[in-house]
Amino acid sequence: MFSAIVPDNIAFHCAHLDDVNIGDLHIEERQLSSAFSHDGRKNAFIAGRAAARQAQLKLTGASAPVGRDVERYPIWPDGLVGSITHTENTACAVVAKASDYLTLGIDVETYQENPGIDVSRRIATEDEYLWIHSDPEKKRERTIQVFCAKEALFKAIYPHYEKPFGFQAAELSWLDGESKFQSTILLNGIDPALCSLDVHMVRQENTFGALVYA
Ligand SMILES: CC(C)(COP(=O)(O)OP(=O)(O)OC[C@H]1O[C@@H](n2cnc3c(N)ncnc32)[C@H](O)[C@@H]1OP(=O)(O)O)[C@@H](O)C(=O)NCCC(=O)NCCS
Repeated sequence: MFSAIVPDNIAFHCAHLDDVNIGDLHIEERQLSSAFSHDGRKNAFIAGRAAARQAQLKLTGASAPVGRDVERYPIWPDGLVGSITHTENTACAVVAKASDYLTLGIDVETYQENPGIDVSRRIATEDEYLWIHSDPEKKRERTIQVFCAKEALFKAIYPHYEKPFGFQAAELSWLDGESKFQSTILLNGIDPALCSLDVHMVRQENTFGALVYA
């Protein structure tokens, strides 16, 4: 689903959970997967690492294990940056050369017509909240777009910031016609290269994808 928004020098791969198995992983990744007791979570981890392996192969023709920090973020092989996301059925990974990008962040979320609770108050800043609710017919899809964009931002920023932060740390503005949010990151001491990031958005039926590269 990301082909429309991924630049040529970023490789991506999406894997269906049913199409991968533990034999697709490097031995170090198989060892990491044994820490998951819940089958669903273990399968998602395996699919994410399998997608990361395929994305590396597309980028460089080779692949190395992707580790896991104690804070749960992926540790990419030397010279690479990347990001992983999973849904119920699919896992996607993006990878690029560290000489081209400082960081990547990816997220996929599925839009439900009747999600039950409205989380817009919790995840949105005041201006984002006004944008979400300015069109009653679009408020649910805008909520999921903002959520998805902020999850991708979190994954791009956290490994460089390494301190907890919440949804109010980013302020998003939707750029009509460009299919992206422009973000301002409101975190003290953050690398200036991460202060203002674009979040590229794509939609496929009821699924939204977000990609950040900096
Ligand atoms: C980390 C987080 C983003 C994961 O999102 P999720 O919807 O649970 O799961 P996804 O399937 O999309 O992504 C999971 C992957 O994210 C990656 N990830 C986990 N923690 C991460 C972190 N701190 N930094 C970067 N990537 C991380 C991992 O690769 C993980 O997959 P793996 O465990 O199989 O390797 C989420 O749990 C979280 O903590 N969000 C914080 C939200 C927030 O405060 N956002 C505000 C930003 S402004």
